[in-house]
Amino acid sequence: MGEKVLMTGRVMDFTADPFKAPWADCVSYEEHGGLLIEGGQILARGAADALKADHPDARVVDYGKGLILPGFVDAHVHFPQTAMIASWGKRLIDWLNTYTFPEEMKFASLDYAAEIAARYLDLTTAHGTTSMVSFCTIHPESVEAFFAEAGKRGQRVVAGKTCMDRNAPEGLRDTAQTAYDQSKALLEKWHGQGRIGYAITPRFSPTSTPEQLEALGALWAEHPEVLMQTHLSEQTDEIAWVKGLYPEARDYLDTYEAYGLLGRNGLYGHSIHLEPREIARLDEMGAAMVHCPTSNTFIGSGLFDMKGITQTKIRVGLATDTGGGSDFSMLRTMAAAYEVGQLRHNPLHPAQLLWLATAGSAGALGMADRIGTLAPGSEADVVVLDLASTPAIAQREAQAGDIWEAVFPTIMMGDDRAVQAVWIGGRAAL
Ligand code: GUN
Ligand code: ZN
Repeated sequence: MGEKVLMTGRVMDFTADPFKAPWADCVSYEEHGGLLIEGGQILARGAADALKADHPDARVVDYGKGLILPGFVDAHVHFPQTAMIASWGKRLIDWLNTYTFPEEMKFASLDYAAEIAARYLDLTTAHGTTSMVSFCTIHPESVEAFFAEAGKRGQRVVAGKTCMDRNAPEGLRDTAQTAYDQSKALLEKWHGQGRIGYAITPRFSPTSTPEQLEALGALWAEHPEVLMQTHLSEQTDEIAWVKGLYPEARDYLDTYEAYGLLGRNGLYGHSIHLEPREIARLDEMGAAMVHCPTSNTFIGSGLFDMKGITQTKIRVGLATDTGGGSDFSMLRTMAAAYEVGQLRHNPLHPAQLLWLATAGSAGALGMADRIGTLAPGSEADVVVLDLASTPAIAQREAQAGDIWEAVFPTIMMGDDRAVQAVWIGGRAAL
C-alpha cells in the first residue's frame, strides 16, 4: 500500500458511451471534485469536501480549476516513427518508402531503439497520454526496448513486432517462420509482465505473403487472449494494390479473415474506405476500429465515417497514428476528429471527443475496466488539464457558460502546455 493521495479539482469521466445514449446521461462530473488514489489504484471519486472528511489521512494535491480526467489512451501509434513525424509531401505508399522504412531500418540497433522508446514516452507523457498500442519494427530489439522502457515507468502499454516478408526493403523483411517464432517468443516473454500486453502485428496485407498472414493467424489461434493490430483500407491506392496481390479475396478485410486474422480482439487501424460486407463482418465479430484523424488528413487518406460506424456494435478508438499522424497530442487528435466530423455534417460533442480519447480507446483495447476511467478499482492513470493554458484559450474560456464550453477551446487549441499534471500507475509522472 502506498500513501493515500486526494487530488482535488474539476473531475470528469464517463459511465456510458455517448454515441449510444444522450451524452448528458454518460458523464460523471464534479465541479468541486476529488479523486482518491492509493497503491496505483483509484479508491473513490466524488465531492472534494466529502472525500476530505472521510479520508483525513490522505495527502491533498489541489489542482484548483484544473480538469482531472483519465489519462489519454492512444489506440494506434508507431513509436519508431517518432523522429520522422511531420515529413512532407507524400501519400501512404511513397511516404512509407521515402521516410518510414529508412527510419525503421535503424531499429536493428537496441541502443537506438532504447533512445527513441524513452524519447517517445517522455513526449507522450508530456502530452497527457498514459497508455498506447504501438507497432514496433521487424526487429525484436525494438519490442524489447519499448517494453523495457514502459515497464520502468509502470505504464499500461500494448505493442508487437511488426511483421513484413514482402514489398519492404532488404533489412526490413522477416519470413513467415521467423515472424511466427519471434512474435511467439516476445509474446511469451512479455505478455502479462506487470502492465505490459503483447499484440500480434502484421503491418498490413501488402507487406505480408499469405503464408505469413496464415502463420500469424495460427499464433493468434493459440493465444486468442492477446490483441491483434493491423491496418485496413486507409487509402484507395492501397486497396487497389491489395486487390492485385490477393486476387481471390472478396475485399481487403477478407485478406485477414481468410487467414484467421479477424476477431473480437482485432484492432483495425484507419478503416476508412470499407465495403458493406466488411462493415457487416466487423460488426458481427464485435471487432474494433481505430480512427486516426490527423493521419488521415495529413497523408490524404480520407474521412472516417464516425456516424455510420457508431450505429453498429463495432468499438471505436481514437489515435494519433504517430508518425503518419502529425502530432503526439490527443487534444490535437480530438480537434481533428471534430473537423473530420464537420466535413461529414456530424459535429462531435466535446463529451464524445473526450470519451473517444479515454473510455472509447480503452474499450477498443478491451481494457475499459482498467484504464480510460476514474471508476473505483481502476488503475490510477490521470491527466490534469489547465483549461486556460494560453492567452488565446484563456480569453475564450473566460466566456464559457458551462464545462463543455470551458473545455472545447482546449480541445481545439490546446497542446502540451495544457497538461498540468500526469499520474501513471498512481505515481506523479509530470
Ligand atoms: N500502413 C502500413 N504501414 C503504415 C504506417 O506505418 N503508417 C500508416 N499510417 N499506415 C500504414
Ligand atoms: Zn499505423
